[in-house]
Amino acid sequence: MTTSAWQQLEAEFNRFENVHMRDLFAQNPNRAKQYTASACGFTLDYSKNRIDDAVLKALFELASSSELEQKRDAMFAGDIINTTEQRAVLHTALRRKKGDSVLVDGENVVDEVHATLTKIKQFVSEVHDGERKGYTGKEFTDVVAIGIGGSFLGPKIVTEALKPYQQQTLKVHFVANVDGHHIVDVLAKLNAETTLVVMSSKSFTTQETLKNTETAREWFLASGAEFKDIAKHFMCVSSNIAKATEFGIDEDNIFPMWDWVGGRYSLWSAIGLPIALAIGFDNFEQVLTGAREMDEHFLTAPLEQNLPVIMGVIGVWYSNFFGCQSHVLLPYSHYLRGFPAYVQQLDMESNGKSVDHTDNNVDYATGPIIWGGEGTNGQHAFHQLMHQGKTIIPADFIMPIKPSHTETEHHQMLASNCFAQTQALMQGQTAAEIEQELLAKGADAAEASKLAKHKFMPGNRPSNTLMMEELNPTQLGGLIALYEHKVFVQGVIWQINSFDQWGVELGKVLGNRVLDALQDKAQPELDSSTQQLVDMFKAQIS
Ligand code: F6P
Repeated sequence: MTTSAWQQLEAEFNRFENVHMRDLFAQNPNRAKQYTASACGFTLDYSKNRIDDAVLKALFELASSSELEQKRDAMFAGDIINTTEQRAVLHTALRRKKGDSVLVDGENVVDEVHATLTKIKQFVSEVHDGERKGYTGKEFTDVVAIGIGGSFLGPKIVTEALKPYQQQTLKVHFVANVDGHHIVDVLAKLNAETTLVVMSSKSFTTQETLKNTETAREWFLASGAEFKDIAKHFMCVSSNIAKATEFGIDEDNIFPMWDWVGGRYSLWSAIGLPIALAIGFDNFEQVLTGAREMDEHFLTAPLEQNLPVIMGVIGVWYSNFFGCQSHVLLPYSHYLRGFPAYVQQLDMESNGKSVDHTDNNVDYATGPIIWGGEGTNGQHAFHQLMHQGKTIIPADFIMPIKPSHTETEHHQMLASNCFAQTQALMQGQTAAEIEQELLAKGADAAEASKLAKHKFMPGNRPSNTLMMEELNPTQLGGLIALYEHKVFVQGVIWQINSFDQWGVELGKVLGNRVLDALQDKAQPELDSSTQQLVDMFKAQIS
């Protein structure tokens, strides 16, 4: 990139590359306060980053000069910002209040959103109250939610994260993978008479979801149910009403969604139906409220105090100037253990792009590799590389302050590990400090000097610490919206379309061709390696 804001950041990087955060903390006792921002029940301590005022100023300048505020407003207003698919991007409209207005092609979509929310509310209360029953007159005890990607990850991780809010009488099981072990294992435990199937597919063309739903339908019919009973047990969420009815789903059982909602941004739509079934409609509404509050924060807070903007620009600083290739998410919360996988799709499917809005290949890094896992487990696994490996991995530590259990000491241990990891990454430990420790313990000088080399902790490894008051529906909604907007900020700076996903298409086409080869329906031309894999598979399975 050749903009003056970018060049300024290159200069800042040259000035700052070898500055150690230890020194920055030593020089400025106010550093933590200075680089902490709060909103919507979240407190972001971003002081353990390789930044100072001048770096931040240049980063915010980069955001402004990328027209972040104008582009943000255009997204919220329903402009066609997904230009390769000619679509508006309006997941934020899904959490607007009744009576608000967002126009797409002259229609107020907020009205449609609330009509669908009313339908969800009605359906969920009928299931919970036992008014809606299975074909033999029994109440529903289980829901099998079938979907993949955005039609799976959001509902799955929200339901999992809000375990304390789950209904006791209705259990929701998620099935995504076309690996038959998944659906077979889930169905084996269930009674078809008391099982509701919710199939979620925006496109209604996704191979895995169609196959899993077919298998569920066969299982249902094999249990003694008749074809007409399907209408009582099979619901679907899709924007492709024609395909859904063609598949045999009763039109009354279709919950709509819209082209202006991307799959990975869709948990706020009827794709969230399994969430509402699991935790109740009121709690689902609270998830939407939390996201709306974060939307308002993103829309109105100055860039310097705007959580998604701060996290977004700091991420750009590491990706584009320090050359960091990955970003790790470390929720210190068992219930948030699925969050890294959720953000993986959100971020990597959105910003894993190489062509900019002017149709040119970009000459800078875009979306980083997102990965992670729950703390403290990761400390006993991959944190070694974060502390002493050759690569710098910026980290987000996420810590809900109030637990939903009463085991105080567990929670103190969890939090102490979280905070201490951020400290260890930041300050490290010098060889001299380590040598002294070893000598004090009685090691001889030669041994201490040798070992100190291996125990040396470079530090200066960056992290954000995001504290949330508690993991409740509102805050969870806010957390997810925060990451959605962070991804948006970065996409704007990188000048890419964060809302298409063309890169997943070729694999689908080739997958169908290979399937034809495996099933002897055709003999597509395959490269020798792929052909060999097909031949070996066929030879060993028959
Ligand atoms: O293959 C990628 C993808 O299209 C995602 O973007 C989407 O979330 C997922 O597949 C599922 O798509 P659908 O909801 O249309 O079945």
